[in-house]
Amino acid sequence: MRKKIVAGNWKMNKTAAEAVALAAEVAALVKSDVPSNVQVIMAPPSLFISEVNKATEGIANLSVSAQTCHEKASGAYTGEISAPMLASAGVPYVILGHSERRQYFQESNAQLAAKVDAALENKLTPIFCCGESLELREGGEFLAFVAQQLTESLFHLSAEAFGQVVIAYEPIWAIGTGLTASSAQAQEMHAYLRQHIAGKYGQAVADACSILYGGSCNAQNAAELFACADVDGGLIGGASLKAGDFITIAKSF
Ligand code: PGA
Repeated sequence: MRKKIVAGNWKMNKTAAEAVALAAEVAALVKSDVPSNVQVIMAPPSLFISEVNKATEGIANLSVSAQTCHEKASGAYTGEISAPMLASAGVPYVILGHSERRQYFQESNAQLAAKVDAALENKLTPIFCCGESLELREGGEFLAFVAQQLTESLFHLSAEAFGQVVIAYEPIWAIGTGLTASSAQAQEMHAYLRQHIAGKYGQAVADACSILYGGSCNAQNAAELFACADVDGGLIGGASLKAGDFITIAKSF
């Protein structure tokens, strides 16, 4: 059975007090409402990771994640946070390759391969994001483009290392736009990526890989998306900023 995961990407939102309050609300609702086979993850701004992490204590299916990390272990990289630092702070997950990082910080597939390595070397689980632009979708080349993102950033890994990675398919045209991929569009891509993974690592590895959908996933549409055979959960942006909506999504399997 693949792991079911709902991860909230808070992006650059919330003050210190707001972050603590949201984490406490989410923690209480995970405890009371979310089945134990659904892993819920909160990815706050890095400044608040340690505080938010405290709210996850003693709740097996609630964890914290970073939104990115640097590929180097330490050094003169002002403003950055490394994988060993996250590991030392007890952070189990890191989102890598979000389209906003690719767009605004020029993260390339090759650089992301190095970040994935840094994360895995430090026993962090990467939540690896991939996805196409509207232009690529309309041009018809989107399946091959997204498969190539996996090839260039992940397929250097051993099967064992690949088995530690969570994938999040996030069509760029659906992020923060209110335009969700239809369940048919999500299923088509997820099935294609699983087949692509099977081609490299074999069916058993592909079948064990959790592939999340992200992009305007909300309390209203999550159930339909999560009902797709190859959709194993969601990476949630806007709707993760309200505990009630986020938990409704986590209960949508
Ligand atoms: P959204 O963001 O849910 O606000 O569209 C998703 C994401 O960027 O991870």
